[in-house]
Formats: sequence, structure tokens, C-alpha cells
Amino acid sequence: MRIDIVTIHPQLLESPFQHSILKRAIDKGIVEVNLINLRDYSTHKQKSVDDYAFGGGAGMVMMIEPIANCINDLKSKREYDEIIYTSPDGEQLNQGHCNRMSTLKNIMILCGHYKGIDERIREHFITREISIGDYVLSGGELAAAVISDSIIRLIPGVLNDETSALTDSFQDNLLAPPVYTRPADYNGWKVPDILLSGHTANIDKWRHEQSIDRTKQRRPDIYKKFKGEE
Ligand code: ADE
Repeated sequence: MRIDIVTIHPQLLESPFQHSILKRAIDKGIVEVNLINLRDYSTHKQKSVDDYAFGGGAGMVMMIEPIANCINDLKSKREYDEIIYTSPDGEQLNQGHCNRMSTLKNIMILCGHYKGIDERIREHFITREISIGDYVLSGGELAAAVISDSIIRLIPGVLNDETSALTDSFQDNLLAPPVYTRPADYNGWKVPDILLSGHTANIDKWRHEQSIDRTKQRRPDIYKKFKGEE
């Protein structure tokens, strides 16, 4: 998989890909992540990429030319399965999107900024708009990192134990059960006996029940999907 991230703050996005699971996926050649500086496509002397909004009002708008030049340049080199725009008014990211996107070959992510981008970019280039939640970030870079992370870890070969992605929260419309490690007794706070029993079938059953209880209590919206009510 190749992920091309178009941003005015490439440095902001360097660190997330230089550690842990994402770094390993890149080192293994399973994924290639490229950070593209949008300012390199500005034709202005000051390398500006934003301008005042037509019709007035507060806040700057990202201009069409640098973005169109950048996207056209990238598209001339390869075909993209998705050109994603990160925006609080996009579709909210969920595990289903991540599963689907983890099977794609080439993804471009355009990080939004200021008051947004010229609407014509959204109309003519963007294939999917994604929000990572109902709150407003100061830019789309952190959203791009979240989207990339949630996709990359699902690609076969990225996680050591492949089943660990399948048992994540949300994969079967259930939250994950509680987990514990040593010591079994920390100042009187004990690990549930069942987990120390060595009886795998009973442990699996307990975990499944815990998952169901947790989902019912914490995420009734997901519980409905689990019950097949949605
Ligand atoms: N840009 C600003 N806020 C955002 C959000 N919640 N999701 C994705 N991109 C954003």
C-alpha cells in the first residue's frame, strides 16, 4: 500500500510514522508513506496556499490552484483508489471504513486547514471526506495520522499476531473485554479467578460475556448492531 499525505505541515506528520508498528510496517516494505508539502505547488512568491473567502467573513480558504496542481501531479504518476479529505463535516471514521481501506493499493489524504478548502476541490477531486469525531482540530494532520494508523495496522503482516487485529474492539460490533497481567494480586486488587484457571473454553466464554456487558453499558449504539437491530 502507498499513502500520499498532502499537507502544509509535513514535519507535524513525521513522528507518527517513525515509531512502533507503523515504522515496522514501513521498514518491512508493507506500506510506503509519503509526505507532500502543498507549498511546493504554490506559484506565489511567499508560497502562500490560502486566500480570503469570496463573500467575506472570517477565516482563510485554501486555494484551488496549489491543491489542483498537486493532486494532478500525483495522479499523473499513479491511479488512486481513494482521495480522502480530512474534515469535521466528513463521514465519521469507523472500523468498517478502516477494514475496507486496508485492502486498497494507493490512497491520497489531503489535510484540511483554515476555514476549509475551495469547494471545487471537493466536488472534482475528493472521493471520500472523513471526520475522526465531532470536534474541531486545528488542522487535518492529526486526523490523517489517525486514519493512516487505523488502516496500516490491519494490513496482513503488520501485526505480529494477526489474530490480534481481529479481536480488536469494534471488529464484531463488540468492545474488547478487560485484560490483566502480573501480578495477580496488587495490594489486594485481584485478577478475576477465571483468568487464572487455565480453562480456555471457560475463559473465552467469560471474555465474550464481558465484551457484551461492556458494549451494552458503554456503547448502546454498537450493541444494537451486535444484536442485529440495525
Ligand atoms: N479537521 C479538523 N477537525 C477534524 C476532524 N474532527 N476530523 C477530521 N479532520 C478534521
